[in-house]
Amino acid sequence: MIKSINGRHLLGTKDLSAREIMLYLKSARSFKDILRRDIKKVPTLRGRTVVNLFFEPSTRTRTSFELAAKRLSTDVINFQAPSSSILKGESLLDTVLTVEALGADIIIIRHSSSGVPHMLSRHVRASVINAGDGTNEHPTQALLDAFTIQEKKGELAGLKVAIIGDILHSRVAKSNIYCLKKLGAEVRLIGPATLLPECMGQLGARTFSSMEEGIEDADVIMMLRLQLERQGKGFFPTTDEYFRQWGLSGKRLRAAKPDAIIMHPGPMNRGTEISSEVADGGNSVILEQVTNGLAVRMAVMFHLDERKEQ
Ligand code: CP
Repeated sequence: MIKSINGRHLLGTKDLSAREIMLYLKSARSFKDILRRDIKKVPTLRGRTVVNLFFEPSTRTRTSFELAAKRLSTDVINFQAPSSSILKGESLLDTVLTVEALGADIIIIRHSSSGVPHMLSRHVRASVINAGDGTNEHPTQALLDAFTIQEKKGELAGLKVAIIGDILHSRVAKSNIYCLKKLGAEVRLIGPATLLPECMGQLGARTFSSMEEGIEDADVIMMLRLQLERQGKGFFPTTDEYFRQWGLSGKRLRAAKPDAIIMHPGPMNRGTEISSEVADGGNSVILEQVTNGLAVRMAVMFHLDERKEQ
């Protein structure tokens, strides 16, 4: 068993080995135990500075990174792009070099352009964590999803995981495909042809145009948000029509295993990709995903900091 991860940054699950993923999950279990205590704060990263740089909206990822950093006793800066000197023409790189000059040890970035965290990682000494870049990757979401599946189902190897919806624009889907395949799961991708490009099959996932066929006997059903902000017109006729064809209702869920877990990275569009009956039902682990994000993000920051010391 390796004792540390290889890279200084977390840019995507594409770059991680199965053993590195398992190490993150194992450490997240330890941090989750700590989070159950009365005193949830540990001095692990005392003296370090974490900067949250979000150039796209976020509820779950930004707040859980902030809380995870605070639980590890770091100082946290939440950079506000709309009130920053970016509006005066400062470049993204100059902005990041500026926050690094203030002593940032870990920079967490979400940006609408794919590849921004990778570019920044080549210019800074701090560790860079990708909190979602365009349509490319969202690695901590995939790690918290794997953690949640492991908690509920044990081994991931051999599980049938159906990922449904707007695969084309989803960084969550891509990070999950890389991660789940490395852990031995069977990944199925389901969606309209307009949102499920054929090249996705090259990542080792089976593609389905029929919802019923795709979720048959599934152990895990992962619904995706329709990313309307990244779509032009013409991917599907209307959101009502989309729900009729690709939405998860209680009736449709019957094709999966009775104990299949229902996941969604959030934010959900109720009635568009998932019904409230399913989202709030007994098989849903959607809020547990949010809870687990905290422990997983603590584990990620812990290991990246440990790597910096070597
Ligand atoms: N899953 C996810 O990234 O949610 P937020 O956009 O709220 O961070």
